[in-house]
Amino acid sequence: MSDTEQTIAVIGGTGGLGSALAYRWGKASHEIFVGSRSAEKAELAAAELNRRLGTQTVHGLANRDAAAAAEIVVLTVPFANHEAIVEEITEAVQGKIVVDTTVPLVPPKVSHVQLPEGGSVAKRTQENLGGNVRVVSAFQTVAAAHLAEDESVEGEVLVCGDNVEARTIVLALVETLGLKGWHGGPIDNSVVSESLTPLLIFLNKRYRLNGAGIRIVGH
Ligand SMILES: NC(=O)c1ccc[n+]([C@@H]2O[C@H](COP(=O)([O-])OP(=O)(O)OC[C@H]3O[C@@H](n4cnc5c(N)ncnc54)[C@H](OP(=O)(O)O)[C@@H]3O)[C@@H](O)[C@H]2O)c1
Repeated sequence: MSDTEQTIAVIGGTGGLGSALAYRWGKASHEIFVGSRSAEKAELAAAELNRRLGTQTVHGLANRDAAAAAEIVVLTVPFANHEAIVEEITEAVQGKIVVDTTVPLVPPKVSHVQLPEGGSVAKRTQENLGGNVRVVSAFQTVAAAHLAEDESVEGEVLVCGDNVEARTIVLALVETLGLKGWHGGPIDNSVVSESLTPLLIFLNKRYRLNGAGIRIVGH
């Protein structure tokens, strides 16, 4: 691998967003560890990604082992199970960058903003993992279905986190997906990204859009 390539664990990488990110980052020559609650399910997902990519650079492991194996750990699990999974990987991610994609959706009202206690999932993740982990929030405004296909993707991504270097590393990963990323400031600002998704879901329904996203304008 060259200096610019990373080892990336995608926790919940068997799901919609996780498998799409794993595919695109795998295609960009990053080494990927797909994490699952079941190692067997992770191995099957990794085998499918290797088949699609024509590589052997995607590995499937149980979530905790995937988190331990990589430099950058991306959380792509449902809000309902997020806190339990954060607890499970806490030891494995010390000293690393954790990218939190979680939107606090509470079915059935998924087009309503319903923020957790403390205001933001990513902020809670930072508090729970501690100061030795650099948590970066990203990807809340991107539709997994578009990323999963070999098509160009539109839309922009807000990248929030207290550590500027970690944000810059994640911005580069956003750009390898073909998306524009923006420094969104400290983790406190993640509440905005997490609130945008229910609004985008509302717009999808109201205007029959297929994966509404955002774009920042200015001169
Ligand atoms: N989908 C999108 O377009 C999108 C866009 C932006 C952000 N997000 C965020 O990304 C995260 C993942 O979304 P997703 O749509 O990819 O979710 P998903 O496909 O429903 O689930 C992702 C993975 O999470 C694992 N998981 C852990 N606990 C679970 C539970 N209690 N029930 C079901 N699955 C569980 C499953 O993997 P194992 O069974 O292998 O453990 C599953 O494959 C969410 O927090 C979401 O808000 C999604």
